[in-house]
Amino acid sequence: MTYQLLFRLLLRHIPPERAHSLAAVPLGLAGRSRLVRRAARRWLAPSDPVLRVTALGKTFGTPLGVAAGVDKNATFYDGLGMLGFGCVEIGTATGQGQPGFAGQRIERLVEARAMLNWMGFPNQGAERIAARLHPRPASDLVVGVNIGKSKVVPVERAGEDYRRSVAHLAHLADYLVLNVSSPNTPGLRDMQATEILGDLISEVQDELAKQHVDVPLLVKLAPDLDDDAIDAIADLAMRRGLAGIIATNTTVDRAGFPSRWLEAGQPAGLSGAPLQPRALAVLRRLRARAGDELVLIAAGGISTPEDAWERILAGATLIQAYTGFVYGGPLWPRSVNRHLAARARAQGCASIQELVGTAAPKDAGAGQGHAA
Ligand code: FNR
Repeated sequence: MTYQLLFRLLLRHIPPERAHSLAAVPLGLAGRSRLVRRAARRWLAPSDPVLRVTALGKTFGTPLGVAAGVDKNATFYDGLGMLGFGCVEIGTATGQGQPGFAGQRIERLVEARAMLNWMGFPNQGAERIAARLHPRPASDLVVGVNIGKSKVVPVERAGEDYRRSVAHLAHLADYLVLNVSSPNTPGLRDMQATEILGDLISEVQDELAKQHVDVPLLVKLAPDLDDDAIDAIADLAMRRGLAGIIATNTTVDRAGFPSRWLEAGQPAGLSGAPLQPRALAVLRRLRARAGDELVLIAAGGISTPEDAWERILAGATLIQAYTGFVYGGPLWPRSVNRHLAARARAQGCASIQELVGTAAPKDAGAGQGHAA
């Protein structure tokens, strides 16, 4: 039975978070079995060296990774990696463990290949998550860690909360992401204002220095920023020595979408196929502003292999998916990898990395305008 049939007949009738937990159990177990790992390497791992990418001081077996939110507590990242991802981003982890919103907090919009979520960062907290990242199973998988603000901590004291996560997690991460863009934590997105973000970066860099940890630092942005704000953050990131930017998180913009989508719990973030044009536009804007000075990681509406290819040409060194993977199923990463490898080979490249940004406009004004 194909995954699409299984999804139609069975999975779509299971509440989304329940389905997520059900999938996490076998993946968690599989990641711990040497036999399964060997079989997965043979059938699912990205085996074509043309897919290899070097970035953030690491080698990724493929540019395709798992976006934050899938493995919030670091319980099954190795199993996810076995499906053919080059990287898994753990989290969002917060300084203090927290339950997130009560009740159902994810809604599938199956026809649109989209999801709405208002989870509110449920996670076990930085300290417990750190315990699962040490020791890490021997594998080539790159593991990033995404950190955010605990809900009970006011924005004015967010720095302390991020510092706490840094102290527990930074030395265990291959790269570290400051999440200031999820819509479900009050005040979090306001931290994208450059003065506030600048202060947060200072606090985090200070804590990293205190811990003697040298880890690439990135920031993850919302797709709802206007062009000036995107440019300002790109400039800030370059000035302050950040390694890169992840574009984008979910959107709260519903313009042009069916009004039914407004009815879900608020403030819900929309992910999946409808996010594709806006996430691509933000990526283009960042590339036009920063060139190759920042490592750009694309997320948002990557549903097909063609979407993944388009992001690489637009300037993404790495790409991430959440919703496309949910609808695509366990063999989806393999099909994306195969497509990317075939396309890169057809271009005569030794590495897909040579193609990053080759279809990018040259100046910021050429990006798709957006005034939020
Ligand atoms: C997310 N996303 C997310 N992002 C983040 O930085 N921290 C998080 O904890 C979460 N949690 C989360 C839960 C759920 C249910 C979804 C659907 C998404 C956002 C995610 O990482 C990604 O940026 C967006 O979903 C856009 O990518 P896709 O889903 O369109 O591929």
